[in-house]
Amino acid sequence: MSDASTPRIVTANWGNPDVFGIDGYMAAGGYEALRAALAMTPADLIDLVKASGLRGRGGAGFPTGVKWSFVPQDTGKPTFVVANFDESEPGTFSNREIVEREPHRFLEGMAIASYAVQSHLAFVYCRGEFLWPGEILEAAIRDAYTKGVFGESSMGSGYALEVVLHRGAGAYICGEETALLSSLEGYRGQPRLRPPFPAVEGLYASPTLINNVETLTNVPSIVTNGSAWFAAIGTEKSPGTKIFSVSGKVERPGNYELPMGTPLRTVLEAAGGVPGGAALKAWTPGGSSTPMLTAEHVDVGLDFESVAAAGSLLGTGAIIVMDESDCIVEAARRLVQFYAHESCGKCTPCREGTWWGSRVLGRIEQGYGREEDLPLLDDLGRNILFKAFCALADGAVSPIESSLKHFRAEYEAHIAERRCPFTGKGPGVQAEPDLSEVPA
Ligand SMILES: Cc1cc2nc3c(=O)[nH]c(=O)nc-3n(C[C@H](O)[C@H](O)[C@H](O)COP(=O)(O)O)c2cc1C
Ligand code: SF4
Repeated sequence: MSDASTPRIVTANWGNPDVFGIDGYMAAGGYEALRAALAMTPADLIDLVKASGLRGRGGAGFPTGVKWSFVPQDTGKPTFVVANFDESEPGTFSNREIVEREPHRFLEGMAIASYAVQSHLAFVYCRGEFLWPGEILEAAIRDAYTKGVFGESSMGSGYALEVVLHRGAGAYICGEETALLSSLEGYRGQPRLRPPFPAVEGLYASPTLINNVETLTNVPSIVTNGSAWFAAIGTEKSPGTKIFSVSGKVERPGNYELPMGTPLRTVLEAAGGVPGGAALKAWTPGGSSTPMLTAEHVDVGLDFESVAAAGSLLGTGAIIVMDESDCIVEAARRLVQFYAHESCGKCTPCREGTWWGSRVLGRIEQGYGREEDLPLLDDLGRNILFKAFCALADGAVSPIESSLKHFRAEYEAHIAERRCPFTGKGPGVQAEPDLSEVPA
C-alpha cells in the first residue's frame, strides 16, 4: 500500500480488517453513499459522476459518467449492469485485492451504478481461477441481501436490485466486454461486432452497463465527497487515483494507490526499488498488452495522456519491472506465447499471427535466429495490428513492436552470437527447438 500521506480512495480502509465483513463495513459508514445516491435522481447521479471525470480503470479509460449516460431508458427491455471481475491481464491484480479486502465497497459502487441506469439486475462476472475471491463475493452478496442492501427495497428506498455472481471458466478473452456477454449468456466466449455497443444492445440484446471493479469501487467516495473533491486529485484529464499493481524486479511487489500522474520513479520508490541496486531496463505501464517503456521513461507521469505521449498506454496500471539481467527476447516470447494461448481463434491474423510470433521469438531466444527474422517480426506486427477482430491481437503486438523499437541491438546480438547473451543458451547447449514449420 501507499504511504499514509497520499490520498487514498479505493484502498482507504485497507488498514482496517474489520471492513471485510458487512457489519464492520457499515460501522465504518459503508452503504451510506448508496443511501444518499438513492435519494438523488438517476440523472443527477450520472451528472455527478460525469463531473468527477472518473475514467474506466479496465484499460481503455473511457469516461464513466458518459458511459452511464449512454444507457437508454424506457426501451421496454430490462437494463443490466455487469461488473467485469475477469482480471486476467498479466501483471494486473488490483481488482482481486479490492475484493479480498473490502468487497462491500465494490458492491456498493455497483449498486449505485445500477440505480443510476435504473437496472434491477446486476451481474458480477468473476474470473474462473478466482475461487476464493468468488467465495468472498458470494458471502458478501448474501450478507447484503440479509441487511436489505439488495432485494426488493434497497436500503428501504423501494428501489429493487437483484445481484448474481457468475463464474467464468478461466479465459483471458472473457474480460473483453462483448466476449464476456457471450460467455454470460452461455455461449462460447468470443467477441461480438461493435456497434451496437453493449450500452445499447448488450446482454440478451438489452441495454447493458459494463464497468471494471476498480472503476465501480471509486464511486461511493465520489457520492460522499462530491465530484470537485475527486476531480482535484490526479491530473486534469485523468482525475483521481489509480491502483498500480507492481510486479517483477522490485523489492516489494504489490498494489500501490497513488494519484494519477505520479511518475514511475515515485511508484518504484514506493515498491522499494529494483533489488540489489540493479539498473531498471524495461517496464510496462499497463500490463502485458501495453508497449514496454525503458529507464529513459522513469519520469513519465502515470496518467492516460502522459503515458500515451511517451508511446505506450496506461491500460490497467500494471507495472511489470524488468532489470538489466532480464533477456528482452525471452520476455517478449513469453508474453506473445500467452496471447497465442489465449487467442479465441475467431480471426486469422490473431489466431495464426500470435502463434507464429511466439515461434519466431522462441527461435531467436534459443540462438537459432536468422537475420531475416527481424524484418519478419516487423512484418508480422504490421499484419496483426488493427487488422484483427478485437484488441487482444493488438495487445499481442505490443511486446513485439516495443521490444524491437527499444532493444533491437539485443535481438541482433542473439542472432549474431547464436546464443542468448543472458542465459548462454544456444546451439551446442540445447537441441534446436522443433521450429521446422516456421517459414524461412
Ligand atoms: C482482451 C481484452 C481483455 C480484457 N479484460 C478485461 C478485464 O479482465 N477486466 C476489465 O475490467 N476489462 C477488461 N477489458 C476491457 C473491457 O472490454 C471493458 O472495456 C471494461 O471492462 C470497461 O470497464 P471500464 O469502463 O470501467 O474500464 C479487456 C479488453 C480486452 C480487449
Ligand atoms: S483478435 Fe484474437 S481474441 Fe480477438 S476475436 Fe480475433 S482471434 Fe479472437
